[in-house]
Amino acid sequence: MYSYFFISILFYTAVVHANVLSWDEAYIKAAVLVGQMSLDQKVAITTGRGWANGPCGGNTYPISSPHFPSLCLQDGPLGVRGANNVTSGVAGINAAASFDKMAIRARADYLGKEFRGKGIHVQLGPAVNMMRSPKSGRAWEGSGEDPYLAGIVAAESIKGVQAHGVIANVKHYILNDQELNRMTSSSEIDARTLHEIHLWPFARSVEAGVGSVMCSFNKISGVHACENDYLLNTVLKGELGFKGFVVSDWWATHSTVQAANGGLDMAMPGDITLPTAIDIPGSSDSYFGKNLTDAVIQKDVSESRTTDMAMRIVASWYKMHQDENFPQTQLSFDQRNSPFVNVQENHRVLVREMGAASNVLLKNINFTLPIVPSQVKSIAVIGSDAGPPPNGINTCFLNYCSNGTLAQGWGSGTADFPYLIDPLQGLREVFGDTKIKSTLNDWDLHQAAEIAKDADFAFVFSNADSGEGLLGIYGDRKNLSLWQNGDNLIKAVADANSNTIVVIHSVGPVLMPWINHPNIKAVLWPGLPGQESGHSLADIVTGKVNPSGRLPYTIAKREEDYNVDIDLDQVVEYSERLLMGYKWFDHAGIEPLFPFGYGLSYTSFDYDDLKVKTRVFYDDDAKRIVSDAIVRASINVRNRGTYDGAEIVQAYLSFPKSANSPPQQLRGFEKIFLQKGQNATVEFDLRKTELSIWDVSTGTWVIPAGEFTIGIGASSRDIRMSIGFTF
Ligand SMILES: *[C@@H]1O[C@H](CO)[C@@H](O)[C@H](O)[C@H]1NC(C)=O
Ligand SMILES: *[C@@H]1O[C@H](CO)[C@@H](O)[C@H](O)[C@H]1NC(C)=O
Ligand SMILES: *[C@@H]1O[C@H](CO)[C@@H](O)[C@H](O)[C@H]1NC(C)=O
Ligand SMILES: *[C@@H]1O[C@H](CO)[C@@H](O)[C@H](O)[C@H]1NC(C)=O
Ligand SMILES: *[C@@H]1O[C@H](CO)[C@@H](O)[C@H](O)[C@H]1NC(C)=O
Ligand SMILES: *[C@@H]1O[C@H](CO)[C@@H](O)[C@H](O)[C@H]1NC(C)=O
Repeated sequence: MYSYFFISILFYTAVVHANVLSWDEAYIKAAVLVGQMSLDQKVAITTGRGWANGPCGGNTYPISSPHFPSLCLQDGPLGVRGANNVTSGVAGINAAASFDKMAIRARADYLGKEFRGKGIHVQLGPAVNMMRSPKSGRAWEGSGEDPYLAGIVAAESIKGVQAHGVIANVKHYILNDQELNRMTSSSEIDARTLHEIHLWPFARSVEAGVGSVMCSFNKISGVHACENDYLLNTVLKGELGFKGFVVSDWWATHSTVQAANGGLDMAMPGDITLPTAIDIPGSSDSYFGKNLTDAVIQKDVSESRTTDMAMRIVASWYKMHQDENFPQTQLSFDQRNSPFVNVQENHRVLVREMGAASNVLLKNINFTLPIVPSQVKSIAVIGSDAGPPPNGINTCFLNYCSNGTLAQGWGSGTADFPYLIDPLQGLREVFGDTKIKSTLNDWDLHQAAEIAKDADFAFVFSNADSGEGLLGIYGDRKNLSLWQNGDNLIKAVADANSNTIVVIHSVGPVLMPWINHPNIKAVLWPGLPGQESGHSLADIVTGKVNPSGRLPYTIAKREEDYNVDIDLDQVVEYSERLLMGYKWFDHAGIEPLFPFGYGLSYTSFDYDDLKVKTRVFYDDDAKRIVSDAIVRASINVRNRGTYDGAEIVQAYLSFPKSANSPPQQLRGFEKIFLQKGQNATVEFDLRKTELSIWDVSTGTWVIPAGEFTIGIGASSRDIRMSIGFTF
């Protein structure tokens, strides 16, 4: 197992190195091409052609002599939006819930292939905004409430996509963490919270070599994100050293001079007014294009700034080798006219595995799960969330409806399903049609109880949805309750059957007033598993896959236990500072229903022999530092149960008192597969930034004085061993 992992890691590294130029090499090539461009040409490649004017969601102007193509920019983080014959896999929040770096990379690897296969130059993903409030409408596109986790997911996603020569786009920069008022509100934050929480995943993305960053709709300290000199020039391009280009979110450009001087490099979609409907072209006016050229002629913007914009775009293009055999763009703005290009290959296999790997087992009394199909006479399957969408797949605008099973949220971060294996179908395939009785009606509680009562096991399904707030659609969640009568349905089924298994498809935490019902023997949390939903679920239910998914957010007992809600004001105050998610629950001593990092397995693991080394890793023979880690913790983990399975070993760091930091913060996780009885040593390397706090007075990362503690365990509230260290 180990050597296999090791070879895979080497293989991926090799692919990345072979295919991606360094920024310095890319800039040398770019300088030659941009050096031949006129001012008009430089401006042209920074400017979108306008909404619905080109095959893609965003299209730049092409130029000839020198030649530079129209770049195609297309949503989104989980698959190619608005396209046929693509894979519609697990959402970002599920990638995070897998806590599995190799699976996240494998997902990015197929995404890169599919975007490339359609001739898309820029994939608009990953999304890294935090689940600051459990109601944040688009939080399901990202990685949950922890910046370290989000940083790893982002870096793996970027490396995987860019290895195929597609420019990744990390978004939305920055503090765009709710849908309400996102076009008009201003986010207010202190410098420490900005750096330690919200900037963190962007910093990891820049380290991973991301080619582009999307600035967001909102303002920060009263200044639009896409003309924010401090955040774009000082922080992103200065402090983080970002070498690629900044593109505006669609219609998030608000000026010519301030935007250009404030650090924006590309205006999308180019026109200035939101269309009134999704397929109607916007205005023909642009803040860039001719107006940017005029601003240079009038010396309000320097020509060197436009050269820099062009260099950033062209260098990213060279860095991903898009000058060599990049495929023709094979999309059509009107999807019905899209050419037939099937890029799905066997990616369904990965989606199925990822769906299982991200399914979180929350409750499993007396090993109710897994179930051996041959030992079961009858199964009840209840709830609309178990079944197909009544009107078929892809019938709602950007998936804005909750009909049938929930497999992704709604908005621009969706991708059409090529097909959707619903849970009922998945369970039918393993248990056989004849053993299953079902109802997809959420409201007829009497019928639900009748169907449940004689079954060996009663599966009851429900969901909670959210998405992007656009064109009058409210995006954030209005409450943390299940939709479609879920709580009543679950209670009715549990009252009728003493082997009730609850399955929730949700964008984020829900309240579970029924959780302690004695007849509810198991609870499964598959999140948003994508097109293979039913297969992934069946793999977990039958034990073909031993669950190892972990919650990337805290599920509270009561809504009041969360300290952040959707801000109704135009000023969104980040007053929780560092205490977001579990950091707040730990600080306030509030017991969550299910903590961050939680998830059960069909087996169990022992932890032993925690060691920590604090020195720079210096190879005496090679006379050089071989790792930028300055602390290395190791621990032995043993599978002491009766099933083979994977453990997600998590490392949480507590800073010295002097740091005034949250009680503990995730600083490492490793997924390790162990056969029953087997053990292995897991290592965690911490780099300087991971041991530092942002020092506001010097504007640098500083390792605080005093004693640190590293705690290692199976969740944020299940630390098995901890050890102190100082420098
Ligand atoms: C490709 O997409 C079209 C339109 O959705 C569909 O009719 C066709 O069956 C798809 N073909 C394959 C091979 O998936
Ligand atoms: C572009 O410039 C023209 C002429 O100065 C001005 O009328 C127009 O409003 C500008 N467009 C935008 C989007 O700023
Ligand atoms: C679990 O199983 C044991 C032994 O069969 C039994 O005594 C106990 O009541 C069970 N617990 C629950 C909550 O069903
Ligand atoms: C489909 O979803 C919409 C929006 O969530 C809802 O209004 C409608 O009742 C649903 N239709 C069915 C058949 O469930
Ligand atoms: C929660 O919000 C959903 C979606 O808006 C709605 O269907 C449901 O009735 C609400 N539940 C409660 C308890 O308010
Ligand atoms: C770990 O496994 C090795 C064999 O691979 C064995 O020698 C050792 O005793 C095991 N350690 C523990 C703590 O189980």
